[in-house]
Amino acid sequence: MTAAANKNIPYDVEKARRDFPIFCEPVNGKQLIYLDNAATTQKPQVVLDALMHFYTRECANIHRGVHYLSERATESYETSRAKITRLINAASPNEIIFVRGSTEAINLVAQTYGKMFVGSGDEVLISAMEHHSNIVPWQILCEEKGARLRVTPMNDAGEFVFEQYERMLGPRTRLVAITGVSNALGTVNPVSEIIKLAHDRGVPVLVDGAQMIQHMPVDVRALDCDFFAFSGHKMYGPTGIGVLYAKERLLEKMPPYQGGGDMITSVTFEKTIYNKLPYKFEAGTPNVAGAIGLGAAVDYLQSVGLENISAHEQELLACGTLALQALDDVRIIGTAKEKTSVISFVLEGVHPHDIGTILDKHGIAIRTGHHCAQPVMEFYGIPATARASLGMYNTKEDIEALLWGLRKVREVFR
Ligand code: ALA
Repeated sequence: MTAAANKNIPYDVEKARRDFPIFCEPVNGKQLIYLDNAATTQKPQVVLDALMHFYTRECANIHRGVHYLSERATESYETSRAKITRLINAASPNEIIFVRGSTEAINLVAQTYGKMFVGSGDEVLISAMEHHSNIVPWQILCEEKGARLRVTPMNDAGEFVFEQYERMLGPRTRLVAITGVSNALGTVNPVSEIIKLAHDRGVPVLVDGAQMIQHMPVDVRALDCDFFAFSGHKMYGPTGIGVLYAKERLLEKMPPYQGGGDMITSVTFEKTIYNKLPYKFEAGTPNVAGAIGLGAAVDYLQSVGLENISAHEQELLACGTLALQALDDVRIIGTAKEKTSVISFVLEGVHPHDIGTILDKHGIAIRTGHHCAQPVMEFYGIPATARASLGMYNTKEDIEALLWGLRKVREVFR
């Protein structure tokens, strides 16, 4: 069933919660309130079952054996690739490369496409709100190549400044790499417009979709992005598996990322002929179980409907934002008009780590720190924030628990 087909089915959050066994597990003797979904999401039973099924019923290496189990494992692995192709509306499974996660996907592009097409004096353009994983791979590349990393600014609300982007997109720009949704602020960037303008000037675009794919339907062909990176564990799938989507014509031109088994057609000491797509980019035994688990997560998300999840999370975001805004000693960091699922904040007189530690004692999990986005913290002149990030199973009661927890924090500190 497609996500679109489900948009008129009312969303039942209590039913969804029952799909996640972790909610039966007490934390510090309390019912778990899980508000750290931007770091990782919990896993539904169907994903756990898929992992167990693979290891108990069809464990084998793929693409190598002629035996029964190897054929079954290969079929399950490739079925997952097909599911992901459909989820993001890629043109072909050849455009879906299994990687460890968004970080590896971006490094892959930097070290293959970047190595080939970015030269001395060229520019890579990113935004001021990137996660370290969409900064450091480009810094490494630019240092190697004598290229320049340029950063488009954001405004005080944490919004992308389009006019500045337009000015900075110059004749030496070889690639734009931009996050779809900021992990630290929750800002939803206007990726369609960003891509369109870059393409008008002949520049390809990579979208870091790590915080996007689990919150809204993504159609890579409608977006027309050249690269799209995401992680399985942030979309209710296993850790250690993720996806790089790339247009086939670009993948054809790119050199391999790593050498080894499965990425070759033939090897002699004189010369290696590389395998066809997508295998050219999947050296070594991949995370077979992870890919199969991710396929189960895709089925699960589609059975619930990403539109339903999005509407539910937007309602919670609005409710949480209003409640926190009403508190005199709380400042929300990141107030963009277009946001999803993240409320970053500071509480006057209390370090975010202390907030996180006290909340944890009451079974409430949030993330505190710089969220792997130190330049964002620097922009706001703060060392860290407390971040509540929402997922499909959160409820208004979870928001109330957070507010209750903040009262407990104040009792300790004042
Ligand atoms: N990038 C993840 C986060 O935002 C780990 O928490």
